[in-house]
Amino acid sequence: MKKFLVFTLFLAMFVMTACGTSSEQTGGEEKKKLKVVTDAAYAPFEYLDKGEIVGFSVDFIEAVAAEAGYEIELVNVGWDPLFVEVEDELADLAISSITINDDRKQTYDFSVPYFLSTNKILVPADSDIASAADLEGKKVAVQNGTTGQEAVEALFGANNSNLKKFENNNLAIMELLAGGADAVVADNTVVEEYAKNNPNESLKVVADTDSFDAEFYGLMFPKGSPLVSEFSAAINKVFESGKYAEIYNEWFGSDPDIETLKAQQ
Ligand code: ARG
Repeated sequence: MKKFLVFTLFLAMFVMTACGTSSEQTGGEEKKKLKVVTDAAYAPFEYLDKGEIVGFSVDFIEAVAAEAGYEIELVNVGWDPLFVEVEDELADLAISSITINDDRKQTYDFSVPYFLSTNKILVPADSDIASAADLEGKKVAVQNGTTGQEAVEALFGANNSNLKKFENNNLAIMELLAGGADAVVADNTVVEEYAKNNPNESLKVVADTDSFDAEFYGLMFPKGSPLVSEFSAAINKVFESGKYAEIYNEWFGSDPDIETLKAQQ
């Protein structure tokens, strides 16, 4: 009798699993669960909250994937590894506040842009650094392999010994707080939110639109991935349905400028 019960239980589990798979089918064709990689150390875009990956990017990619008819598994692999995983097709795509640029376009394909950003400078509130030029001779902390690093190198050279490179942006900020760096250069939203949410650290953010370009984030795919057009179409639907504005408002408390994003397509 006991054996029979166990067998029935297994049978029930098997049937449930089978049903689970078939309910994922859309229009007859079964879509696989996509592996999406990120570096969850970049609040408020992608970061860990009690071990869970949260942020604007998480809500955004979930909305876009649902629109495209895919389920996703978001994995926090870190910044340098995410580029390797996408290039080697170990992941289907990456979302990580990744700026679309010519250099990366040689190796990867990008969706249409979904976010406008620019680098800014995070400094102690009493710092006399008031522009990018003022960073000359100062110790600057950046996340390795980011456009923040590139922007500082463009100003002061790639072998500049005052440039301190870190594996993630939180470590760069910690270096600033510990006094090992005079400034951090990173995406405006990240440094602005950090300064605002940590008033006890007495920090301020310096903008320099002459030295730092406008940048656009995109979803990053292996070159030639058929998912690119599907996800770009889904992003446009999420723009048009009002879902993008809803998520944007939840995280940033203001309305997005969708026209500027669409003008880049
Ligand atoms: N937007 C910058 C870049 O693409 C920095 C992105 C860093 N993202 C992260 N999750 N750490 O280089």
